[in-house]
Amino acid sequence: MTAAAILTKACARLTANGVEEPDLNAQWLLADALGLERLNLLADRSIPVPPAAAKRFEKTLKLKESGLPLAYILGWQNFRGLRIGVDERVLVPRPETEELAALAADHLRPLSGRAAALDYGAGSGAIGLWLAHTFPALTVTAAEISAKALACARGNARALGLSGRMNFIKTASLTGVKGPFDVIVSNPPYIPSAVIPGLSPEVQSEPLVALDGGGDGLDVARMLVKLAPGRLKKGGALILELGADQAKELLAGLDAAVWTDKKIFKDLNGLERFFHAVKR
Ligand SMILES: C[S@@+](CC[C@H](N)C(=O)[O-])C[C@H]1O[C@@H](n2cnc3c(N)ncnc32)[C@H](O)[C@@H]1O
Repeated sequence: MTAAAILTKACARLTANGVEEPDLNAQWLLADALGLERLNLLADRSIPVPPAAAKRFEKTLKLKESGLPLAYILGWQNFRGLRIGVDERVLVPRPETEELAALAADHLRPLSGRAAALDYGAGSGAIGLWLAHTFPALTVTAAEISAKALACARGNARALGLSGRMNFIKTASLTGVKGPFDVIVSNPPYIPSAVIPGLSPEVQSEPLVALDGGGDGLDVARMLVKLAPGRLKKGGALILELGADQAKELLAGLDAAVWTDKKIFKDLNGLERFFHAVKR
């Protein structure tokens, strides 16, 4: 069978199973089974698919039909050009989090010499690893409550040759981290507990600890706001990714004697998602 014929059938199966973006998912999986880049596959859909590749594809298509995130099946997710290894131990880094990382980079860029950043709730390590990759003199601490996630982040640091400038800390609170940092960046769990059961099966296959932010979703974010001043340098920034409207709520309660340069940034969908405040 040609790639085109296989893609048509696969797309119909994924659609029937309620999978979003069925064509994209089918293309990624077939390209992976063939050992091709997706765009190379799209450039010539008339290529024949050998039986071994068709078998590999069928196996991964079944996983996708069952609701597993594409990145878990492929084993990686692109994050601002870095290939970040992901599996069931960690949340799949989202496009919005690429925007969060860019905000942290904006804060670090004008600083001369060595700087220190904390990626709190590091998961796969995507944010901290990309910052370390982008700023060759930067030291990054990746803090995480989950030992399994921390192991994944460590593995990614090794694979990317960044272990030398990364520290890994297992902790459930900022009290476990010393500092001082030029920036604390975090994409904490921020979904209110009661919302979790209504999420798609795909999202629910990600670790609960990466999603559940407690009653109103702000448990970890509030802890960060409370303890960050003790771990930031003067002029250091706390930059958080939150759910729509949560950033505004958190910013409203800030102590003006401690924080300045309070800002909310919108994500690419126009939603007010990013909290930014600087320690006086
Ligand atoms: C939304 S995920 C973000 C993962 C990764 N930073 C990203 O953006 O893709 C939140 C992460 O915070 C971790 N986490 C949850 N509660 C925490 C806590 N109290 N202290 C430290 N890490 C925590 C979770 O294990 C998870 O890896």
